[in-house]
Amino acid sequence: MSSKEKLIIFDTTLRDGEQSPGASMTKDEKVRIAKALERMKVDVIEAGFPMASQGDFDSVKAVADAVKDSTVCGLTRALDKDIDRAGEALKGANSSRIHTFIATSPIHMKAKLRMEPDQVVSHAVAAVKRARRYTDNVEFSPEDAGRSEFEFLCRVLEAVIDAGATTVNIPDTVGYSVPHQFGETIRRLIENIPNSDKAVFSVHCHNDLGLAVANSLAAVMNGARQVECTINGLGERAGNAALEEIVMATRTRADVFPCEVNIDATQIVPCSRLVSGITGFAVQPNKAIVGVNAFAHESGIHQDGVLKHRETYEIMRAEDVGWSANRMVLGKHSGRNAFRTRLDELGVNFDSEEELNAAFSRFKELADKKHDIYDDDLQALVTEANLDSENERIKLVSVKVASETGETPKAQIVLAVDGKEGQATEAGAGAVDAVFKAIESIVRTESELQLYSVNNITTGTDSQGEVTVRLARNGRIANGQGADTDIVIASARAYVHAANKIVAPTDRAHPQNSPV
Ligand code: KIV
Ligand code: ZN
Repeated sequence: MSSKEKLIIFDTTLRDGEQSPGASMTKDEKVRIAKALERMKVDVIEAGFPMASQGDFDSVKAVADAVKDSTVCGLTRALDKDIDRAGEALKGANSSRIHTFIATSPIHMKAKLRMEPDQVVSHAVAAVKRARRYTDNVEFSPEDAGRSEFEFLCRVLEAVIDAGATTVNIPDTVGYSVPHQFGETIRRLIENIPNSDKAVFSVHCHNDLGLAVANSLAAVMNGARQVECTINGLGERAGNAALEEIVMATRTRADVFPCEVNIDATQIVPCSRLVSGITGFAVQPNKAIVGVNAFAHESGIHQDGVLKHRETYEIMRAEDVGWSANRMVLGKHSGRNAFRTRLDELGVNFDSEEELNAAFSRFKELADKKHDIYDDDLQALVTEANLDSENERIKLVSVKVASETGETPKAQIVLAVDGKEGQATEAGAGAVDAVFKAIESIVRTESELQLYSVNNITTGTDSQGEVTVRLARNGRIANGQGADTDIVIASARAYVHAANKIVAPTDRAHPQNSPV
């Protein structure tokens, strides 16, 4: 048993992460990500902001009901109605937390809240007391702490700890801090607040200057024992501190950090892929830990060194963060058991036999087209099977395209909409453009195409292409995914998936438009 203190990992991918412009997740997608975070043994999952809309409330409730091992948290302003709503959404959780916040910087108090400092203190205290009616696990954040006056921060934090806050979180809301100064602030807060030993000090850093992880780690060196972070560093504007970097920095440099995380790091890469697929936010190749090049050695000298002794150039092992050897696992003749066993090994479990069957039949179709099936193919298959299992009104029946040098590409599409088949043929600048126009002429979503991207899942020209399509209509955003060895078909699937989401009834605007 280690004698080190614990560093609590608080993931806010589902809340702050979703505030990234363009990232939007349905309730089912949030539950899928929450389950992946639970598998990773994340301590606290911030599932959303229940007061923002009925849709946000439903998502937080669904996550609270689905997750058993992690604490599920809901965000609120320091208002009774927000707190009551969060208390209601979190009712089903095994372990719940309410996270309430109010701004404390002079500019926010004056220009945004139009409140005097005394009023801010009494709102903060009242909010924490109200939250304690629902749970004894209450977090308070002085928003824009990075630009707040030190004495005022001490006053607010002492008051909320007295009122029952068990975690006090110091957000660098606008990403303005620099590591030595931020670390120093945390140390001084802990030293100067008389009841600081009654609460866990947490940090929540934004990445506007590219310093979110560095600031968070400086805070850890100075007494913070919770870090708020997101998968792939997703989040408002330039994002939040990346979970994978916080976890692997503290683990790899255990000689430096005074505390340790309780995370199953082998779940990091699968979770990163899941989040990137669902949000349509591709991971840059050179992104630490989860980028495809993070463990690739290009130069001959490096390759030679690694072959002779891996630790010459590698400080972490790729497999420890969930990069599989991407070996050829299955083929055309593999059966259901082999398929299920390999997915089990990859940490993918099915909620029902129907889900397993849907994924297995996709696997058989793929095995007919592609000789070698890799782990990454399997992960994409599961995502595809999940997409199909949602209640979709629009189904892709068939795609036919004609592309020829010197001729205008044409696409013929057959869709079933609410069970009734419809067909359209359209011309376009290219085959994909023609396909999208033909789909649109049947379903008429009248949305704007904001993003179209293709990634190959493995290498080689028989690789599956993974396509993301982002549609926007009246402030709503929907991301769709599709995978196939034929990228035109993958594109059609992705468009249909996004169209299904955009036509689905919801009272949920994009979180950018919510009142936070
Ligand atoms: O960045 C921020 O200040 C926040 C708070 C709500 C914690 O996200
Ligand atoms: Zn934030």
